Amino acid sequence: MDLEHNTLTKEQIEANPMLPRRFRIDKVTWETQETFTHELVPIDGADMFRFKPGQFNMIYVFGVGEIAISISGDPDDDSRLYHTTRVVGSVTRRKQNLVEGDILGIRGPFGNHWPVEKAVGKDVVVIAGGIGLAPLRPVIYYLLNHRDQYKRITLLYGTRSPDKILYSRQLKEWGARFDIDVSVTVDSADTDWQGHVGIVTKLIPKAVFDPNNTVAFVCGPEIMMRFTAMDLLKFDMPEDKIYVSMERNHKCGIGFCGHCQLGSYFICKDGPVFTYDKLKSYLSIKEV
Ligand SMILES: Cc1cc2nc3c(=O)[nH]c(=O)nc-3n(C[C@H](O)[C@H](O)[C@H](O)COP(=O)(O)OP(=O)(O)OC[C@H]3O[C@@H](n4cnc5c(N)ncnc54)[C@H](O)[C@@H]3O)c2cc1C
Ligand code: FES
Repeated sequence: MDLEHNTLTKEQIEANPMLPRRFRIDKVTWETQETFTHELVPIDGADMFRFKPGQFNMIYVFGVGEIAISISGDPDDDSRLYHTTRVVGSVTRRKQNLVEGDILGIRGPFGNHWPVEKAVGKDVVVIAGGIGLAPLRPVIYYLLNHRDQYKRITLLYGTRSPDKILYSRQLKEWGARFDIDVSVTVDSADTDWQGHVGIVTKLIPKAVFDPNNTVAFVCGPEIMMRFTAMDLLKFDMPEDKIYVSMERNHKCGIGFCGHCQLGSYFICKDGPVFTYDKLKSYLSIKEV
């Protein structure tokens, strides 16, 4: 079947999770030199699907390959789909050349989610490193959309340098609000940078939260998640209130192929979000 040019029926899409549904790129925004966001609208079927914060789609760049990318938009806005992608290898390199009007194949949404429902009535600390802000952005949208259900909300974000900061305009908007504390830090600054300097864990002691009544959502490089979790533990946060997100190469995205297996888990089906106690022995173990 010519997946790039054939329109699928809703029934065909629902019956076969391996069939990509076609989406049109409506807008491309370059966030940094190597990271861009696609805004997508559906072609096949009438409705946009709903997703939960932390879920991902398998994105097919026709004729090139399929990759897992988190959904980075607002879960309460089903008018379009947002994906932020960092260019690292063959598929993402070809994806970066696509322009408005081009077509992508989408399968999903797959995976579990950041359990925002378990954080109701609690302080929430969201800690992101680099591209890790993309899978966490739907959490921030969700918390702010349902602001009255949560106590203090804190976002701590770290990147290597100021030019690597994602969603900078939005971070400023969130930072200007009184109902969320936003701190951004960079490992190394240029002369224009007036914010924090140092790794993201240095922001944790400055954050205000009740360790006995807090849920933490952490996403970034594995080494960053490990050190962040270890610092949160020093504040007596329980391991099972610290959530981290794991990345492994995906093929099917639905628990069939075993490609993403890590110990007894299939990351695509059991994850990508896990409590720290379940994942701590795997963090920073090199992918085989
Ligand atoms: C659940 C999930 C959600 C993801 N969300 C995002 C997202 O929102 N934005 C984003 O930019 N990327 C995300 N990724 C990572 C993305 O899938 C990979 O960057 C992509 O598959 C690389 O494909 P490529 O063909 O360009 O690179 P390749 O040519 O396959 O690889 C280039 C380099 O990247 C490494 N690499 C490839 N895939 C992964 C991976 N999954 N994890 C770690 N390293 C990898 C390879 O080891 C190699 O060193 C996510 C991955 C998973 C599993
Ligand atoms: S990607 Fe196939 S089982 Fe997870």
